[in-house]
Amino acid sequence: MAKHTLPMGGRRFSKRPIGSTPTPSEATVAPKQTLSITDNRTGKVYEVPIKDDTIHATDLRQIKVNPEDFGLMSYDPAFNNTASCRSAITFIDGDKGILRYRGYPIEQLAEKSTFLETAYLLLHGELPTKPQLGAWTDNIIHHRFIHENVTKLLEGFRYDAHPMGMFISTIAALSTFYPEANDIKSPEIRQRQIFRLVAKSPTVAAFAYRHGIGMPFAYPDDELTYAGNFLNMMFKATETKYRPDPALEHALDVLFILHADHEQNCSANAMRSVGSSHVDPYSAMAAAGAALYGPLHGGANEQVLRMLREIGDKKRIPDYVKRVKAKEVLLMGFGHRVYKNYDPRASIIKRVAQEVFEVTGKNPLIDIALELERIALSDDYFISHKLYPNVDFYSGIIYEAMKFPVTMFPVLFAIGRTPGWLAQWQELLNDPEQKISRPRQVYIGSQERDYVGIEKRR
Ligand code: ACO
Repeated sequence: MAKHTLPMGGRRFSKRPIGSTPTPSEATVAPKQTLSITDNRTGKVYEVPIKDDTIHATDLRQIKVNPEDFGLMSYDPAFNNTASCRSAITFIDGDKGILRYRGYPIEQLAEKSTFLETAYLLLHGELPTKPQLGAWTDNIIHHRFIHENVTKLLEGFRYDAHPMGMFISTIAALSTFYPEANDIKSPEIRQRQIFRLVAKSPTVAAFAYRHGIGMPFAYPDDELTYAGNFLNMMFKATETKYRPDPALEHALDVLFILHADHEQNCSANAMRSVGSSHVDPYSAMAAAGAALYGPLHGGANEQVLRMLREIGDKKRIPDYVKRVKAKEVLLMGFGHRVYKNYDPRASIIKRVAQEVFEVTGKNPLIDIALELERIALSDDYFISHKLYPNVDFYSGIIYEAMKFPVTMFPVLFAIGRTPGWLAQWQELLNDPEQKISRPRQVYIGSQERDYVGIEKRR
């Protein structure tokens, strides 16, 4: 039997059954951080290094039947078990319901931090000192305005255009206003685009909304906080100075914090994948926004509200749950690729909801949502599938109570997620192991065949 070793050196297989625990005498030998693989097609044994509980997929390529073969690949549609990067930004333990940004528990950040401070943390790796936070905040305030031509672009959309479609297109269009952004290798130029994107996202979002309802754009107010200014740009009417309700301003700030990053989710992966071609960050972020728009990702809270409205009455919940279990419909706002326990963000949001309802009055949908959660969490289907409420189950109910239209929900998510996308993008560009994203495929189509003229086709 031939033995093929990788850098860690080789070892033959013992006769123990696959997956069994070593005997005490075997266990006394210090465990090697390697994985032995027997290719039963050839009987060859390979040994590949294990680092951080991971093997390098390219180490499999030496496993071949014939020397001219391409070599073994791993097949992982939807990246169910593939790490695409090494990241120091966000940690999630889905089984324990843990979420940390740069090591800080989300619960502490939601309670003690602000969105701008958290954005700084995600992008820089450390909480800012007072002067650092001051400079960062000044830069964001300075970049809040958008070029008047961008407002013309927004005005070109139809009155009923979905604000998320407007947001995505306008973020992409910003690349034409800042051609310097193509120089993604310059840290200074990158930093300037980061200021612009974090600062302008709320402006673009609010202007998209105002266009839809035919209201004149409300320009940024330098004296207001990030969340307070966003409320101003959304809801300012004829008053000379808009003063946001402090409870609503705080709730929105917390919601932005909760959405700020979530490691390698669908939109972060889009940001990294598109960014890996070295395109400018506006184009990459438009791609991330497009990924977020889908109902299985950031579009879920919009779908939750539609679902709760369709249910309409607590009495109809059992029937709806039956349809979910029959796989006719999904229980929107439930389930997560990573969390197989309560999403910690959902618990925080439930508390924020109470604070908001004290100001706005209760959104009647909350009663349906709470009862739906109660019934689902005591049902075997949901327990056995480990389906719990995710961040979007309650966020829409709060947004609606705050008078955001349903179509703005994914846009609100995108504003919060902007620093996360940019932190992922920046980390990608600084990672010497990263290259252009380019998965392999398992080809299952026709073998070579000759072209058939149309007159001979059947
Ligand atoms: N309702 C009912 N059943 C569900 C749900 C749900 N919301 N989510 C998953 N399941 C079931 C699936 O039918 C499947 O059942 P089966 O094993 O009997 O076939 C099982 O649970 C596993 O589901 P997958 O779809 O394989 O899980 P995956 O990790 O691919 O999907 C996802 C995760 C997309 C979030 C899924 O749970 C879902 O569609 N949820 C509803 C949409 C939603 O709330 N999205 C927001 C996610 S959070 C965020 O993006 C911020």
